[in-house]
Amino acid sequence: MSMLAGAPWLLAHKSMLAVNKPFKVSLYGNDYVLWKDGRGCINALSNACPHMGAMLSAGWCEEREDKSSAVVCPFHALEFDGEGCTVLPGSQKKTLPQLEPLELIIQGDFIWSYGGREPQQPIPEILNEIAAEYEFIGCTADTSIETDLLSLLLNMHDYNHQNGTHRSLFQIQEVHFEKFIDNGHHSHAYFSMPIALTNLRDKLKNPGLFLFPKVLNAHLENYFPSLVILHGDTGAGIFKQIHLFIPESPTISRTYVMMFGLAKNPVFQLLKQKFLDLGKIVVEQDTDILRKIYPNTPQKIKLNNEVGMDWVRRNFDSYPEIVEPNLSR
Ligand code: FES
Ligand SMILES: [Fe+2]
Repeated sequence: MSMLAGAPWLLAHKSMLAVNKPFKVSLYGNDYVLWKDGRGCINALSNACPHMGAMLSAGWCEEREDKSSAVVCPFHALEFDGEGCTVLPGSQKKTLPQLEPLELIIQGDFIWSYGGREPQQPIPEILNEIAAEYEFIGCTADTSIETDLLSLLLNMHDYNHQNGTHRSLFQIQEVHFEKFIDNGHHSHAYFSMPIALTNLRDKLKNPGLFLFPKVLNAHLENYFPSLVILHGDTGAGIFKQIHLFIPESPTISRTYVMMFGLAKNPVFQLLKQKFLDLGKIVVEQDTDILRKIYPNTPQKIKLNNEVGMDWVRRNFDSYPEIVEPNLSR
């Protein structure tokens, strides 16, 4: 199963890394330890200790005078600096690098990586644009799912699954699909969904949600393959809910949600946490259904509004080339 080598993946937002606390990430079947030092610098090394293979991400960090730090192996406490060099007991001298660093591209708080592969696509600019204009609210729902990348992407671009997968959350009655704009690896989908408001209010237990519309107008902006942005507009403020995808291995994929916003009214402050909570429930429901799909089942039935999934399959099959047809409609 392809993992789209050459695509840029957003491994984390800097806020997900506590200072001097090792953080494990996986990409293309390899595990890495990431850590942020006291100066805000991000280090990334392969995660298996070159002594006897312990997971460095299960260890801790030791800070130096200059605020840089080393990761310490939890097994026999060897310390590795950001270059992967260590000082062996009884020796005063630093070794040569013993660990492969992972190449990162840091843009502001965004930590991107091509996983050491030849880049086939530029890093999307959109997150920098959003970060410049909107307040960062938080990240949530960081989850590894036992599913391949294609299955995860199909779910995230399936404009009918709200009816089943997210039924209990929104009580969506139907999906009115309006428009799909196909620009190759970038696309927009516009649709609206009448929702049962009382249910949503119950779920969130917040009076601020009286500001919610009766019809949820969704504008999804898709950057194949690594992210989807839900552009949300409520009476209280504007939300940018960003879903990120990462192929951890051929059979495990990771997703998480990042949220930005702009207040139009003070209720927005109350809503921020509620929106994060909502994002978490949405991902839990997606995770749940992805665990209940038989892989490789031939699709004998096609519904309306599957254009997002057609777009994913077209891009996936021809990656990194973009082939006809243009699916705009
Ligand atoms: S396994 Fe890491 S120090 Fe021994
Ligand atoms: Fe979903």
